[in-house]
Amino acid sequence: MKVFVTGGEGQLGSELISQAAPHGIDILAPPLAQMDLTRPEQVDRVWDEFHPAAVINAAAYTAVDRAESESELAFAVNAEAPAHIARRCAQEHIPLIHISTDYVFDGLKGSPYRENDPVAPLGVYGRSKAEGEAGVRSRLKQHLIVRTAWLYSAHGANFVKTVMRLVGERDELRIVDDQIGCPTCAADLADALLRMVGQLTPGAEAPWGTYHYCGSGVTSWYGMALHILNTLMARGRITSFRLLPITTSEYPTPARRPPYSVLDCARIEAAFGLSRPPWRQSVAKTVDRLLSNADSIR
Ligand SMILES: NC(=O)c1ccc[n+]([C@@H]2O[C@H](COP(=O)([O-])OP(=O)(O)OC[C@H]3O[C@@H](n4cnc5c(N)ncnc54)[C@H](OP(=O)(O)O)[C@@H]3O)[C@@H](O)[C@H]2O)c1
Repeated sequence: MKVFVTGGEGQLGSELISQAAPHGIDILAPPLAQMDLTRPEQVDRVWDEFHPAAVINAAAYTAVDRAESESELAFAVNAEAPAHIARRCAQEHIPLIHISTDYVFDGLKGSPYRENDPVAPLGVYGRSKAEGEAGVRSRLKQHLIVRTAWLYSAHGANFVKTVMRLVGERDELRIVDDQIGCPTCAADLADALLRMVGQLTPGAEAPWGTYHYCGSGVTSWYGMALHILNTLMARGRITSFRLLPITTSEYPTPARRPPYSVLDCARIEAAFGLSRPPWRQSVAKTVDRLLSNADSIR
């Protein structure tokens, strides 16, 4: 099956590319230099040459804080581009798997978010992603919108790599303990998405709609940092560390984050028969991958 993937150089996109072959999936994922999503004619050109049977939109403007001052670009990539892709998918009668975020919610619900809970984003990034979801839904019936959260991998910039770098540079780490969510390994999400694509039969019905997928279990950024550092201790890479929990108000950022963005993932498990690895296990695996290639954490 030929699948057109956007954002192939990102955390999720690069995992999709590296895991596709055993699923019998042939991926085309042009880099940003060849296909800028804000240039619809470049997207169309790739499309016309490749004739995909499905699309996974893993590209996004993901700089949550910078989005507050670059809202035009954030909306162009996260809202206008998905609308164009969905329109093309509708013309070609092919499905789109579009990736979205827990940041479409305000984090005030106090219990895990279900797919049909009302969105109420707190910042530009979340608003642009919520508009992207709406644009996909309104243009294309054959869509799977998959919201995920707190993504990390052995590639790109993310919290696991930041903690591993900072522990070598600082005597003490101060990490926010009052934002609660679900760390998600990009490799696990890529595996889930490829299994979902494998269940789609061209032209046939599927359980189209919106889904949540995260690593299983819940923690804070502090809890995640503690697990990373404990893993490094267990591997003999550090002998001690000083980690202090702080509040969000002690670490002000340009964009507000949801204080509680746990996603209920029961629907995707039931519809596609997926299981979700525990976040602790996947974080430890990612730490090990990074330790085996020390250059990649700098
Ligand atoms: N990261 C998280 O914590 C997180 C949490 C929840 C949901 N998500 C969602 O998960 C999905 C994957 O995220 P990720 O962490 O893999 O993101 P990522 O590592 O930032 O990768 C995004 C990719 O999109 C590309 N891109 C940006 N603007 C583009 C444009 N105009 N045209 C073409 N490509 C463009 C980026 O290229 P450059 O790198 O060259 O800019 C990058 O390769 C996104 O939908 C994101 O919103 C992420």
